[in-house]
Amino acid sequence: MATAVGEHPEGLEGEARDRDKGARVRAMFSDIAPTYDLLNGLLSFGVDRRWRAQAAAGALAALPAPGAGPRPRVLDVACGTGDLTLALKRQRPDAEVTGADFAEPMLELARAKARRRGAEVSFVVADGTALPFPDASFDVVTIGYGLRNFADPDAGLREFRRVLRPGGRLAVLEFPPPPRGPFGTLFRFYFRRLLPRLGGLVSGERQAYAYLPESVLGFLTPEELTRRLQAAGFTGVGHESQTFGVSALHLADVPRVRREP
Ligand SMILES: C[S@@+](CC[C@H](N)C(=O)[O-])C[C@H]1O[C@@H](n2cnc3c(N)ncnc32)[C@H](O)[C@@H]1O
Repeated sequence: MATAVGEHPEGLEGEARDRDKGARVRAMFSDIAPTYDLLNGLLSFGVDRRWRAQAAAGALAALPAPGAGPRPRVLDVACGTGDLTLALKRQRPDAEVTGADFAEPMLELARAKARRRGAEVSFVVADGTALPFPDASFDVVTIGYGLRNFADPDAGLREFRRVLRPGGRLAVLEFPPPPRGPFGTLFRFYFRRLLPRLGGLVSGERQAYAYLPESVLGFLTPEELTRRLQAAGFTGVGHESQTFGVSALHLADVPRVRREP
């Protein structure tokens, strides 16, 4: 049976479960905010900067050259401490860039970082599945390592599609489940055994760094995410793997409106 707009496909129980996951995720990221950046660099051996720079470049490549059109509007959802938001601004200083996240402590750090770097970006508290923006109000939407934390990733994808204008572009950066083979085995060991210990030691929040591998191992493969993006109404969906498949960048476009002849 078709579900009415705004109704949860699994009814009230599903809605309550989503609310519960949302609250847990928000509390967890609020708790780990102070050590988030340090651990990101440490646990990824510093490669995370390159992954975000590549995501920003892929997302912005769809825009006309600076000065060739109206001022581009860019939204970074689940922006956390703002690293992807700031990479976007660095690469397109002419754009109006906004970061959105539902964990206020992460946003406080993002605002301080932007101030230190003299970057003119704005940060708003918002849930990625109910963004406080009108339809078709952004040229580019990005989300870096946020989607797998959503209680309902499909609801997030539909919302990104809603706020993007026709011809706009979405970039999703995520950790796919590790591949099979020797590298996957090694990575799983690192991810399951070492990372929670190291993360717990530095942040004092072992639980949060045990959640990280579990959320990745249970997330969609790039092929599944491609199908979900298409189901949400995106076209030209493609993905490329980063650093032997540890991270993956998905790009997807909103179809342009066809003019009547
Ligand atoms: C792993 S961090 C990624 C932060 C940042 N994008 C980066 O690249 O470092 C995930 C972020 O997603 C945010 N988040 C998770 N679910 C969200 C939701 N439904 N709406 C808004 N933010 C959400 C968390 O608060 C957290 O800041």
